[in-house]
Amino acid sequence: IGEKIIWTAILPSTNDFLKENWRTLSHGTAVVAEMQTNGRGRYNRNWLSPQGGLWFSILFKPRKSLRPAFFTKVCSLSVIKALQALKVEARIKWPNDIYINGKKLAGILTESVFDENIPKAIITGIGINVNNNIPQELSNKAISLYQITGQIYDPKIILKMILRQIDGMIRRYSKKPEIATRLWKKYMIQKEGQVISFIKSNIIQSGKLLKILEESLLIEIDGKKIEISSLEILDV
Ligand code: BTN
Repeated sequence: IGEKIIWTAILPSTNDFLKENWRTLSHGTAVVAEMQTNGRGRYNRNWLSPQGGLWFSILFKPRKSLRPAFFTKVCSLSVIKALQALKVEARIKWPNDIYINGKKLAGILTESVFDENIPKAIITGIGINVNNNIPQELSNKAISLYQITGQIYDPKIILKMILRQIDGMIRRYSKKPEIATRLWKKYMIQKEGQVISFIKSNIIQSGKLLKILEESLLIEIDGKKIEISSLEILDV
């Protein structure tokens, strides 16, 4: 992973770049853009990607039938580990947002590429607010590494640290993905047994989080157990 890095000054979106070029690129290729003009987040949200942040995507062409969620977990854990090496203790907000002090530092977007309905590749995009400024209107929700530590970082070094982590974790956990899941739960802000509030289908609800499953949550709402895979948790 990360043996080949394509470094660009500007792209619409590094995820889109890999979606267009996955056929000719090898497993583990990373593409970085110093800024993105059409950065995308989950739920088709816009992802602000100005100069100073770290915006990149990785192409996975796994031989084994590993789930896209495995790569997303490995990537969020790798970001956490790289930050730990910088003495920054971040946590995961379910499913894969990286938070610190109640504010979002990084986000991850995994997409699958299909060819004639057959899954061919997995693209995981990682966006980290490193040295970039957070616009006033987002300052209660998002934070940059610079705002946390007062230091300016070399995005290339952070990129290399993350890629090394991803490489090691894939080697260690692809035969035992449940270890990645266990670690991912360990770093998660949400814990089993806790009451959480969330938005589902535009409605704010709350319930008791019974179990964090591989790709969904088991929640008790008004005495009923419901498994939900797409919801936005409000507590951070
Ligand atoms: C989210 O939190 O909703 C996911 C944000 C993912 C942003 C990254 S930046 C690099 C890559 N290219 C994109 O267009 N999005 C991802």
